[in-house]
Amino acid sequence: MDVNLATFTYICVSRSHRNPLGRLGEADDLAPVVAFLCLPLRQWPSRGCRWRSNSERHRISFRSVDIDHRGELYDRPKTMEGGDQKCDDNQAVGRWTLVGTTALVTGGTKGIGHAIVEELARFGAAVHTCSRNEAELNECLQQWRALNLKITGSVCDVSSDVEREKLMQTVNSVFHGKLHILVNNAGTVIWKPVVEQTPEDYRRIISTNLDSAFHLSQLAHPLLKASGRGCIVNISSIAGFVAIDSASVYAATKGALNQLTRSLACEWAKDNIRVNCVAPAYIRTPLIQTCLQSQQLSEDEEFVAREARRVSLGRLGAPEEVAAVVAFLCLPASGYVDGQVIIVDGGRTVNGNN
Ligand SMILES: NC(=O)c1ccc[n+]([C@@H]2O[C@H](COP(=O)([O-])OP(=O)(O)OC[C@H]3O[C@@H](n4cnc5c(N)ncnc54)[C@H](OP(=O)(O)O)[C@@H]3O)[C@@H](O)[C@H]2O)c1
Repeated sequence: MDVNLATFTYICVSRSHRNPLGRLGEADDLAPVVAFLCLPLRQWPSRGCRWRSNSERHRISFRSVDIDHRGELYDRPKTMEGGDQKCDDNQAVGRWTLVGTTALVTGGTKGIGHAIVEELARFGAAVHTCSRNEAELNECLQQWRALNLKITGSVCDVSSDVEREKLMQTVNSVFHGKLHILVNNAGTVIWKPVVEQTPEDYRRIISTNLDSAFHLSQLAHPLLKASGRGCIVNISSIAGFVAIDSASVYAATKGALNQLTRSLACEWAKDNIRVNCVAPAYIRTPLIQTCLQSQQLSEDEEFVAREARRVSLGRLGAPEEVAAVVAFLCLPASGYVDGQVIIVDGGRTVNGNN
């Protein structure tokens, strides 16, 4: 088709109105996404790039990590000083850092939430987290202090609306009214067939997984807007796409989270708030232990082997592999990614060979 400049401009302007972010994308919006998909976890710049005050050269901290065939992580931090060509570009550096930002991650004392808290903090964000168990929370805070990470925390049961309000008041005061990142991570599952789920089970799953994400997003809205560059990442599950045995109510909350993500992205783009979602498959966390117990699988290996056969990469995921995607969605590098549900499942949902 032959399109003259005036027609092309008209098409661009009219189509940009259909786009929640209100503009067409540029090559520079795509390049970081491609770069992210190419980066092995071992070269992930988990502490971002920091400028050294005494020279124009900067320092970038890489995590030298590897995942073994069981999905377990080896972590060997190392630092590279200046001179790395990829970081010579000021703009590129700015895209891969969270220095100066603030974040709230729910359920940060274990599993995926714990990995997200550390990942965001290593990128330079000041992070606040919560959980129900005070002793565990204090232990985590102590460990993070020893690692020099800027992480605070408070006790909160996110299934309670009163406690959610209290949590947001705390966040408001800790971060002086500005929140850049909200990660709705805390979630629970009660493994039972539908006919055995009690009204209490149903209410607990819905209030922990869905009410909390909806209400915390609502409460965080003024703080995210005030930051000038807000973002929300919801943690859903592949159960929002495919059936998982004995997890129907859980699946319903995750399917709802996927659509809440898309709708909020369109509603809040005008306030400079991006909303995305990450949907993992089985990841090695304490939550998985509850699944093993419910299926009376005493042998961890039996479950892992069965699940690994379904995954094209042939292994379960590690919490850090989910955290890396969450961090990417919070970075300026993903500034043109909005309203998406990113599946992190090692290829499980596309694998027709199982
Ligand atoms: N692991 C997987 O295979 C997998 C797969 C797909 C999706 N996901 C999703 O990923 C998220 C994290 O899962 P995970 O496997 O990391 O779970 P996990 O190992 O059970 O950790 C859950 C974290 O959330 C906290 N938490 C739970 N209920 C809470 C509540 N009502 N209020 C406040 N904090 C609460 C827990 O601390 P306390 O118990 O002390 O409160 C803990 O810190 C969930 O949304 C889950 O649905 C997990």
